[in-house]
Amino acid sequence: MNDIKNEFLLDPDVVFLNHGSYGSCPRPVFEDYQRWQRALEFEPIQFISKKREEALLISKTALADFLHCDRNDFFMIQNPTTAVNQVIRSLDLKPGDEVLSTDHEYGAMDKTFEFYSRKKGFVFRRQPISLPLLTREQFLDDFWKGCNERTRVIFLGHCTSATALRFPVKEVCAKARELGLVTIIDGAHIPGHFPLNVTEIGADVYTGTLHKWLLSPKGCTFLYVDKKFQPRIEPLVISWGFEPDIPTKPKFLEENEIQGTRDISAYLTVPAILKFFEDFRMPERQAACRRTILEQYPIFCDLLGTRPICRVSPEFLGQMCSIPISTKDPLKLKEALIHDHRIEIPVMQDGNSVYLRISYQVYNNPGDLEYLKKTLEKLDIMPRALASV
Ligand SMILES: Cc1ncc(COP(=O)(O)O)c(C=O)c1O
Repeated sequence: MNDIKNEFLLDPDVVFLNHGSYGSCPRPVFEDYQRWQRALEFEPIQFISKKREEALLISKTALADFLHCDRNDFFMIQNPTTAVNQVIRSLDLKPGDEVLSTDHEYGAMDKTFEFYSRKKGFVFRRQPISLPLLTREQFLDDFWKGCNERTRVIFLGHCTSATALRFPVKEVCAKARELGLVTIIDGAHIPGHFPLNVTEIGADVYTGTLHKWLLSPKGCTFLYVDKKFQPRIEPLVISWGFEPDIPTKPKFLEENEIQGTRDISAYLTVPAILKFFEDFRMPERQAACRRTILEQYPIFCDLLGTRPICRVSPEFLGQMCSIPISTKDPLKLKEALIHDHRIEIPVMQDGNSVYLRISYQVYNNPGDLEYLKKTLEKLDIMPRALASV
């Protein structure tokens, strides 16, 4: 297959191995985004009052088909942290109640739960998940040890940030439902990265970004809420959609989609995204990327004198892998990689561990990884001691 790098707007002089943080939007999708922005400026009144709603419906219908859920069960929002803030503010959690989570969650989510746990008096339990993660049973055993008679809510990442591990959320949601617990799933890294059937996951709440692996412009996320749970979610902003004189859509959407003057152009690009995925045979290209990660993960670990943090299998890994490393100063290493060697790659502190996380996207090629290897050898970042696994 031909090289696809020119379709992306990335700096050609940088070896970009950090798709996971904010994604990268390809040219045709970005042009579609700008087309919507121009349409808005061309006729602000007509666009905001009528045409925008029609375009949103078309985009959401395409997205609902992709996510396998009802288009009336989600709305668009700028990012998953905002989505989770909205949900947690809405929940009637009392002193003594517990939210069960893991010690692998995204930092901004931890902060959100810390903040509201202090405000509302509930306990935010970050259950340790042991590494290396070898089976899903191991995950489930570790996780459920944190559940007790005070647990009310489960908050769980579907694919983690620093450790880049896919967790078995469907199994967790099924058991949580039996136990009468509310489930909130952070699927920031899932859409466009792993197959996703939101309805089958069975969560009360599921949020996922489009701007990471689905390649949308930035600030594009969905917040799905199971129909039965929708009455419990309050809008983050009260605006014209609250008790409107003439309702135009279901209450859940009215309250959450009508939020004052906003530029929602990014939300309108789903048809252009799906066209890009088809035109450039993205599924085939991504399958090749996943194979590369499975092959290269142990090689990088050997090079750095460490070991994978999970069984090297598609069950846990997609287009990212995190290598546990030893370095005194993660920030200095990250800065050296970008400024001295033109490699954009995150070096992430997670508890007492530090990870070098590789993202391998369709615009990368084997030469990028060879260059990273040569650079790491030169840097000699590791006192060759095994990291925390
Ligand atoms: C696991 C996870 N959750 C959520 C997010 C979204 O973060 P934000 O809301 O800051 O865009 C990220 C971003 O990298 C992430 O890795």
